[in-house]
Amino acid sequence: MTDPNYVKIFDTTLRDGEQSPGATMSHAEKLEIAAMLDEMGVDIIEAGFPIASEGDFAAVSEIAKNARNSVICGLARAQFPDIDRCWEAVKHARQPRIHTFIGTSPLHRAIPNLDMDQMAERIEQTVTHARNLCDDVQWSPMDATRTEHDYLCRVVEIAIKCGASTINIPDTVGYTAPRESADLIRMLLERVPGADTITFSTHCHNDLGMATANSLAAVEGGARQIECTINGLGERAGNTALEEVVMALRVRNDIMPFKTRIDTTKIMGLSRRVSAVSGFVVQPNKAVVGKNAFLHESGIHQDGVLKNVETFEIMKPADIGLNEANIAMGKHSGRAALRAKLKDLGYEVGDNQLKDVFVRFKSLADRKKEVFDEDLVALMQDSSANTGEDHLQVKHLRVICGSDGQSADLTMVVDGEEKTVHATGDGPVDACFNAVKQIFPHQARLQLYQVHAVTEGTDAQATVSVRMEEDGRIVNGQSADTDTILASVKAYVGALNHLIVRREQVGKDGDSKQISMYSH
Ligand code: KIV
Ligand code: ZN
Repeated sequence: MTDPNYVKIFDTTLRDGEQSPGATMSHAEKLEIAAMLDEMGVDIIEAGFPIASEGDFAAVSEIAKNARNSVICGLARAQFPDIDRCWEAVKHARQPRIHTFIGTSPLHRAIPNLDMDQMAERIEQTVTHARNLCDDVQWSPMDATRTEHDYLCRVVEIAIKCGASTINIPDTVGYTAPRESADLIRMLLERVPGADTITFSTHCHNDLGMATANSLAAVEGGARQIECTINGLGERAGNTALEEVVMALRVRNDIMPFKTRIDTTKIMGLSRRVSAVSGFVVQPNKAVVGKNAFLHESGIHQDGVLKNVETFEIMKPADIGLNEANIAMGKHSGRAALRAKLKDLGYEVGDNQLKDVFVRFKSLADRKKEVFDEDLVALMQDSSANTGEDHLQVKHLRVICGSDGQSADLTMVVDGEEKTVHATGDGPVDACFNAVKQIFPHQARLQLYQVHAVTEGTDAQATVSVRMEEDGRIVNGQSADTDTILASVKAYVGALNHLIVRREQVGKDGDSKQISMYSH
């Protein structure tokens, strides 16, 4: 980039975000998210960690083949087999990148048991190896913010000499603070020979809630790439949230005169999709994309906003793709109105998908007087309704509950064959889940069962999220219905359908164990 104030956006939702326990996405979901990121204008997509598993390798390869505008990057530890595998996956991209890293702080140097000189040698060998394969190499000293400055300068200089064109400075444990983050980049720019020829990148974790501030400070210190994830998804407290840094640079361009090429109107659509596929619900008061981010409840605020929206609003909802409701949806609304409304909400649907969504919309509108935007979003995020080829389908459910006990009569179609059972349990949901288990016995452990009311009122839909684990494989299911119990069963069955697909994948590729990022 020739513009000195251009800041590249490097999205790692599919790598660092997906690495968060429980946030596992299916192959198809990863491709869909990557296509949305590409369209949004993300400069670099970190699509995965190809050596970690067959699934990661396949996803990175296919994302690389499909990408139109973004650079496609894969992660590799400082080992030749990792780097080779990464190259095999990203080489299909129009613009491939290898991102290789090693932990350089005293604590991280102890893991592979390398002294400073041995580690410097490893960095020289691995960056050179990556550079021999790929023109675009990024190198990260993991835990850079806790690495001795002299040693950090030494290893960054080696990586630059060996051909890395991006040096990423990770705050792996979310330890730094804004002034320190800016000063660290300034220090590297001043002290490291050749630093002015490469791009410095910032990669912050949010353990102390400072990831966004630290990333912006790093840009003020001279970094020109920000690594981030949608909704701040990521291990522990997550990574820098893409929507926060991008909107901060846009809204406060007066004091931070930097640009990105992100189409911010795509933010809301991506936020909802990532939340649905990862099973990580966005907190209502989350900056930019939270449900309440543009709500003005108190009387004083409402009065001010009605007189002049700028009284309390620093961004317009439309800037992030949140359009005002202008068509009332109800049971008389037709397909064209539904398509237009979905488009307003950030969903472009093809004819076939519209046909399917319309049926479900009509069924909802028959049960609810008014269908709100949130209802439509819940409908679109209902993963239990997304495929017509599911192994397990819920056909009929009847639940009896009350002070005399709870039981469920459930009919499901299992690979084309109809099965009916009766089960009891401690509460209606437990009775239903026991019924599902009778029909489809399994050992998967329920890790999460979560219910949210989509809107207010007793006819509100409930969104239910279910997360399950079997042999280290984690799957999510999500469903919405005005009947909370039915939504629970559909979410549970949706998760089981994902599990079956994952088992089939393992059957095809062999059970490759997830590799730890920290074993060097
Ligand atoms: O947090 C971290 O240090 C990382 C590196 C692999 C860049 O994610
Ligand atoms: Zn990270």
